[in-house]
Amino acid sequence: MSGAKRDFLAIADFSAEELWRMLRRAMDLKRQWQQDGMNPPLLAGKSLGMVFQKPSLRTRVSFEMAMQHLGGYAFYLGPQEIGLGKREAISDVARVLAGYVDAIMARVFDHEHVLELARWADVPVINGLSDYNHPCQAMADMLTMYEHFGRLKGLRITFVGDGNNVAVSLMHAAAKLGAHFTWVGPQGYEPPADAVAQARAFAEASGSTIALLHDPAEAVADADVIYTDTWVSMGQEEEAQKRMRVFPPYQVNAALLAKAKPTTIVMHCLPAHRGYEITDEVMDGPQSVVFQQAHNRLHAQKGILVEVFGV
Ligand code: CP
Ligand code: NVA
Repeated sequence: MSGAKRDFLAIADFSAEELWRMLRRAMDLKRQWQQDGMNPPLLAGKSLGMVFQKPSLRTRVSFEMAMQHLGGYAFYLGPQEIGLGKREAISDVARVLAGYVDAIMARVFDHEHVLELARWADVPVINGLSDYNHPCQAMADMLTMYEHFGRLKGLRITFVGDGNNVAVSLMHAAAKLGAHFTWVGPQGYEPPADAVAQARAFAEASGSTIALLHDPAEAVADADVIYTDTWVSMGQEEEAQKRMRVFPPYQVNAALLAKAKPTTIVMHCLPAHRGYEITDEVMDGPQSVVFQQAHNRLHAQKGILVEVFGV
């Protein structure tokens, strides 16, 4: 195995400087794409194998198009094709696939599986979402906030809902980059305690704060960003009924938004479950940036790809 390969598995693995470097590259490549309709072929001859154990629109298409825009090649391997850890051991999949491609992107159920892929593959592995985190999403989120506010330091981000994979990466990105992070949701659905402890350490270093609350009105009062996500993540379907009973007080609707500032923006990683964690009125309203955020996945992926490929 090469000691020099650079995986992208968690926001927590990167320094603020490294995260900023990726965000700057993303912004440069976005500007260039919008001005010239093209990017230089920085990844000519490079290939990305994309392993998906779960469905995807944004992650799959944005990585595929990002590779194409940069002159590389990406292909999709769905759950039926590989049978990760079922048809074949993860360590074998990693070693075989790494002999064909220059990098691997994987969306898995168990976070340990993406770590195992990375341990065995001697090419970079990018985490395209696990049950624990979603670091690629957080990069697009920070890019979107920076574009909107012109800064990240000191911003107040409130995540409303389940302390899930998206919440963990957002919390870590905020804490690394100096934004204040508040989670608000039902008791028992907080982000994992180890992730919160890590975030508190990052926040101490960057001069920001981490808060866990249960009162939505209190949590959004001074928020610059209100962020929400599904109440039932992929793989939690058997908990759906219980979650549908617990989460409704945390719906992001017009009444909750009215408790925030007129300048507050609303974000959602999508897919949204309209009428549940977010109403149509808010999602389609003037304070929502959800489609800009989704489109920024394309640009953020480019920043991540040039970093892991070292170009
Ligand atoms: N936000 C996100 O990762 O969307 P997909 O599940 O469609 O990739
Ligand atoms: N928390 C959601 C995010 C989907 C992009 C899930 O894991 O299903």
